[in-house]
Amino acid sequence: MSRKEIDEVTGVETTGHEWDGIKELNKPLPKWWVWVFYATVIWSIGYWILYPAFPTLAGYTKGVLGYSQRSVVAQQVEAARAAQAKFREALAATPLDNVKDDPELLRFAMAGGAAAFADNCAPCHGRGAQGAVGYPNLNDDEWLWGGSIEDIHHTISYGIRSGHENGRENQMPRFGIDGLLDKKQISDVAEYVLSLSGRAKDEAAVARGREIFAEQCASCHGEDGKGNVELGAPNLTDAIWLYGDSKEAIMASISTGRGGQMPAWEGRLDPVTIKALAVYVHSLGGGQ
Ligand code: HEC
Ligand code: HEC
Repeated sequence: MSRKEIDEVTGVETTGHEWDGIKELNKPLPKWWVWVFYATVIWSIGYWILYPAFPTLAGYTKGVLGYSQRSVVAQQVEAARAAQAKFREALAATPLDNVKDDPELLRFAMAGGAAAFADNCAPCHGRGAQGAVGYPNLNDDEWLWGGSIEDIHHTISYGIRSGHENGRENQMPRFGIDGLLDKKQISDVAEYVLSLSGRAKDEAAVARGREIFAEQCASCHGEDGKGNVELGAPNLTDAIWLYGDSKEAIMASISTGRGGQMPAWEGRLDPVTIKALAVYVHSLGGGQ
């Protein structure tokens, strides 16, 4: 098409294309836009050559730089491991009781313990280890199974009623469910338990309950009701209750025996992590 045609209404040149009497005006894209577009095309070719780009049947084109975010992460993880290796070895070699004597090692164990706690223990014991009904608070200084760092390490390693051969096993009898005591006896001995923390209302029931307690309960909870960490039997004289402090909750404990379970962590977590956890839990406040 050699002859230029100018549209009468707009005064713009047409391309000569025409559909049903409608003509196309010749309005090219701005030059700067076209050049930027060419530049991106050239850039992308360079990118394809240097970096991973096209999927292929066998995987993808790797690019001449061989860059991959996976390998970068793997390198960073490797570097972090190497940086930790020294401390992990030291922690493995240091007896539990002596970790606190080395401030750097203690800091490492605390950080590792806190991280492992958030991942593995917080779902049951709570973010701040504050516990919940049935899940003991690990910040206080009442311990079901002992609060020395060795005791804590043992509990974490083998669990409680976990089925592990070294686990903490003792089980309170199900006095109600198995018919060892009737409802009234359970109510009486619960009243006696309340009296241990000065909350009894019915002195006659307390007197009856005292006898039942001496016969049925003292072997685990102690004659004075102060509990026994060898047997995981809680102290019944203080204000700390694993299953609640109301008379109903106490009667339910006596009736069912409860039998809380905590999994064994040996085999699931490596020994150094378990050690770090023991140091961390022991430090939470109530370590003995
Ligand atoms: C599935 C829930 C659950 C998880 C997960 C769990 N625990 Fe426990 N833990 C319990 C229960 C329940 C008890 C109390 C058992 C009982 O009644 O004697 C307990 C008891 C303990 C005790 C003994 C407290 C005492 O007073 O003697 C320690 C220490 C402990 N847990 C630490 C941990 C650590 C550390 C982790 C993470 C590695 C963890 N627990 C994960 C449920 C759990
Ligand atoms: C064989 C030992 C054993 C005997 C006997 C026993 N207990 Fe227990 N008792 C335990 C253990 C262990 C627990 C903790 C259960 C758990 O952690 O799940 C417990 C828990 C309790 C609790 C819950 C405490 C809390 O903090 O919530 C009460 C209440 C209680 N016992 C009262 C009694 C009374 C009353 C008797 C006697 C009628 C008795 N127990 C007999 C071992 C025993």
